Amino acid sequence: MDRDTLIARISAAPDLGALDQLRVETLGKSGSVTALLKTLGAMDAATRSVEGPKIQALREAVSDALTSRKAALEAEALEARLATERLDLSLPVEAAPAGSVHPVSQVMDELAEIFADLGFAVAEGPEIEDDWHNFSALNIPESHPARAMQDTFYLDQVDEHGRPLVLRTHTSPVQIRTMQASPPPIRIIAPGRVYRSDSDATHTPMFHQIEGLVIDKGIHMGHLKWTLETFLKAFFERDDIVIRLRPSYFPFTEPSAEVDIGWSTEKGRRVVGGSEGWLEVLGSGMVHPKVIANCGLDPDEWQGFAFGTGVDRLAMLKYGMNDLRAFFDGDLRWLKHYGFRALDVPTLSGGVGA
Ligand code: PHE
Repeated sequence: MDRDTLIARISAAPDLGALDQLRVETLGKSGSVTALLKTLGAMDAATRSVEGPKIQALREAVSDALTSRKAALEAEALEARLATERLDLSLPVEAAPAGSVHPVSQVMDELAEIFADLGFAVAEGPEIEDDWHNFSALNIPESHPARAMQDTFYLDQVDEHGRPLVLRTHTSPVQIRTMQASPPPIRIIAPGRVYRSDSDATHTPMFHQIEGLVIDKGIHMGHLKWTLETFLKAFFERDDIVIRLRPSYFPFTEPSAEVDIGWSTEKGRRVVGGSEGWLEVLGSGMVHPKVIANCGLDPDEWQGFAFGTGVDRLAMLKYGMNDLRAFFDGDLRWLKHYGFRALDVPTLSGGVGA
């Protein structure tokens, strides 16, 4: 094989295996170029001085060709590997999860975030309550209509006084449990399920409330009003929230106030904010001295305010659903439409709404 054919074959070697084969055939122990080099020893000086440089040049040319083809093939292989192993780092790590966060859970998280910022801890109590925590300790007299069968779900089981246990009708018993469990000052919210025997478009036998309780020294209704105003502004993410406190009656607060939030019309729709009309959103008041005393605290030393509101109702107002029953139907289309993405965690800095 002449030199040019040999170099051409090397330069066209299709892969590293074929190239190595050519190296063995030429520069290997019994390769053709090695064989030529071996002939030098048998030559006389005159012939060697002519043939020697030619053979050496051939060896060098073959060696150079092998080296450069090897480099080229290796570069090609690297390119091919890089092309197949490419990762697009801008792609999401995983497909979005199929489920969604229920509006009630979302709103509870939003409320916890808002009140945590105001220094409130989250407290909990049992959904199966005894008569004393749900009623008596809250100064709800025997004759109070809230005790009537049409509102309260009674269980067959009785407490140690022989009174039937109840499904708690509100989150207010958590006020009692919290005051009994830890000394003031107290600042808590208590979100959770409550039960009343009632069912229509705006009432379901199970719904959600959130209770607020502050017990400290020198607490007055100004603190209550500021707290509610601050909370409602943060929750609805509007500065034009107007609230109105209407004198009312709850056995466990004195004085008591129902809190209305003002609404106005925007593009033909009613939205919270402004004061064209009023919607009742909260029950509240100064914790009744009898309730404070029932928990073993001295009402002359400790005062406080409490409030309670419907979580479902707040969700309806903020996110525009109009039938409460749909909250608990588990209809996937509704959940997809009104649900929240699992990673949308409410934060005050990012806006508590989604
Ligand atoms: N527990 C009351 C209800 O369910 C709401 C409320 C809570 C009112 C705390 C005043 C103070 O309607």
